[in-house]
Amino acid sequence: MSLLVAEGVTKRFAGITAVDDVRVALNAGERVGLIGPNGAGKTTLFNCLLGLLRPDAGSVSFDGADITRLPVYRRARLGIGRTFQRVELFSGSSVRDHLLFAHRIRSGTGALWKDVLGLGLPKPAEIERCDALLESLGLSGTGDEPIEALSLGQSRLVEVARALMTQPRVVLLDEPSSGLDRAETNALADTLARIQAEQGFGLLLVEHDVELVASFTERTYVLDFGKLITHGLTPDVMRDPEVRTAYLGDFVAGTP
Ligand SMILES: Nc1ncnc2c1ncn2[C@@H]1O[C@H](COP(=O)(O)OP(=O)(O)O)[C@@H](O)[C@H]1O
Ligand SMILES: [Mg+2]
Repeated sequence: MSLLVAEGVTKRFAGITAVDDVRVALNAGERVGLIGPNGAGKTTLFNCLLGLLRPDAGSVSFDGADITRLPVYRRARLGIGRTFQRVELFSGSSVRDHLLFAHRIRSGTGALWKDVLGLGLPKPAEIERCDALLESLGLSGTGDEPIEALSLGQSRLVEVARALMTQPRVVLLDEPSSGLDRAETNALADTLARIQAEQGFGLLLVEHDVELVASFTERTYVLDFGKLITHGLTPDVMRDPEVRTAYLGDFVAGTP
């Protein structure tokens, strides 16, 4: 059964329909891509799935329950983890504190102010989980580093680690390749593929970068001007002439 489903989702902003009657579904443990040119509506749909935006029509469900009206933190507690297009790290904190903070918010232990002030001491199990995650993401040894000391590629992985601290059943990533060069993007793809295989969460990868999506998703949805123009097995979608010529242009035409 599909775990996370958007059904007939429509979202309008003054004058434009950013997402138009879209259905996407993510099964447990599956790797799915959502691609489309800039302005296609990817982030808008992503935000509807997360609860940052309320759709004007349609519904979102998780594990069979309607979550259309649930706020972001309630969805997170159900097991929906995410990272954003922009890195959202709190400067001044260490990598480890950053991850522990995320964990506290999600699990609802301790008052927020206590965590911010560093008064709530992390439990050994939390620290262990944090360091194990850093290690499996190739970031071992960075736990005590200030967050600003990391490269953009590493910060992106910290964002992934932050999402994984809460042991989500699905992880939604919005343009993790943004700002990275090709080598950094490839490294990110390898790490993501490895940790997904290890942990088995469902993964929805929202991306402008088609190569990243092609490299490790099983199925792909294609959005353009807010509409779903096609979806299917990733290799088939990548070969689709309509997708190649009309929507992805030379970028994909150059790939085998
Ligand atoms: N908060 C907003 N207010 C008004 N228009 C928006 C807002 N967010 C997105 N849009 C518009 O919706 C369309 C889809 O944007 P977006 O979902 O960010 O696309 P993508 O992530 O695929 O690049 C664009 O035309 C964008 O300008
Ligand atoms: Mg976007």
